[in-house]
Amino acid sequence: MRDSRTICGSLLLFLAFVCTAGAGSGRDPDVVYVGTPYDVVSKMLQMAGVTKDDVVYDLGCGDGRIVVLAAQKYGCRGVGYEIDPERIAASQDNVSRNNVGNLVRIVHADIFTIDLSEATVLPLYLLPEINRRLIPQLEKLKPGSRIVCHNYDLDGIVADEMTTFLSNEDNSTHILWLYTTPLKRR
Ligand SMILES: C[S@@+](CC[C@H](N)C(=O)[O-])C[C@H]1O[C@@H](n2cnc3c(N)ncnc32)[C@H](O)[C@@H]1O
Repeated sequence: MRDSRTICGSLLLFLAFVCTAGAGSGRDPDVVYVGTPYDVVSKMLQMAGVTKDDVVYDLGCGDGRIVVLAAQKYGCRGVGYEIDPERIAASQDNVSRNNVGNLVRIVHADIFTIDLSEATVLPLYLLPEINRRLIPQLEKLKPGSRIVCHNYDLDGIVADEMTTFLSNEDNSTHILWLYTTPLKRR
């Protein structure tokens, strides 16, 4: 029997296909928006051992929930990068509603073009192929930076830790992998 994580993963892949098939003009997102449940976000931040001195980058930030929650819980800085103007507006609204504009920036950018040298924590909820394409950028992160992948790991890279987490929000099991830089190739 397929477990609920497999169903969630399949849904994201299916939505990605629909999104690509219906691509309009301009640069379309490589992955459709599906928000990480808040209790899973908390677990990801805890796995990364976030402190107020960290800088959290969310590549494809959706509604900005990860960087907003990190700023609220840990007082750290964060930058959310997003390509979809609708999601940028939602993220900016989230930042102002939660009064974390002193700590969090939302940037309209394609994640494959950005400089990650300032980041120390990267939560990733993207697709396997996108994760694979990001590895050369991730390899340039400062030593000691932490990457936490949600439901899709970094192919060919050895994780420090892998855990499953049952979310009370969607009643599904989520798989999380923690990586610390420098990344270790298999
Ligand atoms: C699965 S959602 C994850 C949202 C958020 N990180 C979370 O976990 O709640 C992926 C997000 O990545 C954005 N995205 C896809 N391709 C992108 C790209 N090339 N550059 C920036 N954002 C992108 C999508 O618009 C979408 O909001």
